[in-house]
Amino acid sequence: MKECLEKIESASSLEILENLRVETLGKKGVLTLEFAKLKDIPNAEKKAFAQNLNTQKTKVNEAIEKRKIILEKEALNKTLESEKIDVSKFNNDLTCGAIHPVNLTMDRIITYFQNLNFSVEEGPLVEDDFHNFESLNLPKYHPARDMQDTFYNKDYTLLRTHTSPVQIRTMLKQKPPIRMIAPGTVFRRDFDITHTPMFHQIEGLVVDSSDKISFANLKHVLEEFLVNMFGDVEVRFRPSFFPFTEPSAEVDISCVFCKAEGCRVCSQTGWLEVLGCGIVDENVFKSVGYENISGYAFGLGVERFAMLIHNIGDLRSLFESDLRLLGQYK
Ligand code: PHE
Repeated sequence: MKECLEKIESASSLEILENLRVETLGKKGVLTLEFAKLKDIPNAEKKAFAQNLNTQKTKVNEAIEKRKIILEKEALNKTLESEKIDVSKFNNDLTCGAIHPVNLTMDRIITYFQNLNFSVEEGPLVEDDFHNFESLNLPKYHPARDMQDTFYNKDYTLLRTHTSPVQIRTMLKQKPPIRMIAPGTVFRRDFDITHTPMFHQIEGLVVDSSDKISFANLKHVLEEFLVNMFGDVEVRFRPSFFPFTEPSAEVDISCVFCKAEGCRVCSQTGWLEVLGCGIVDENVFKSVGYENISGYAFGLGVERFAMLIHNIGDLRSLFESDLRLLGQYK
């Protein structure tokens, strides 16, 4: 018995301890077999015999419980030690993401105009006919609507084809003066090397009393902006047409790839078109209830800027999520 208790006290694992329990108290355990002998013991000795066995059984049980607690504690400590996680440890192997060139360009343009005190406005991607066309001097059946290959929804809403509806939304909710830009996603039914059905624009609108607004003013703001974006470039304004501006112009910069010598990107012209702009048409102000006021507006394609700044050849590659391209902007 003494030997058995010693074994229990020095059991080195829970498994060994369990085996010892089975050996003594199990179905065929030594003590269990002793209890079986009870029926053959003369009555006079039965009580003392049983008492003795019960004492031994209690001692064994107590020893097992005591050892079990110690062994369990040891096992727990072992697991805690081996499964320890240092949450503050930095894994240098983690690959780090990069900001997409379209977002980089967008952020750069937004910051530029914020520094000139322009507010940043937003509007919904699903627009209605009034905000996207009608109020911008594009009545129904006007041929200029064909310039914008529109995605229409069944309920007569549409995916906005430009960020110009945000001009209308901003003028309807606040009074002049206004100095705003509206960055965002726009949609057109078009897909080739220079067009994707979803792309990004940044709209600009400045509205103030007529002594503060002039074409010269617009020209200066855009020239400064383009030189900040593209460095040492020539800027030229070409007469153009937009229904919501009159007069209207398209703005070109001298080709950043060939220094205006003529190359494939500028189709040998030496110039790259980068913006549309103009003086806000009277009819636009009428549709938002503004009177005796002037303004100028401009709109640009962010992807076009990103491609020229980062020398990216194919517009579609901006949307293919190819890590070889994206990884370059870390
Ligand atoms: N909304 C025009 C477009 O998407 C761009 C533009 C904006 C032109 C503002 C002039 C003034 O083509």
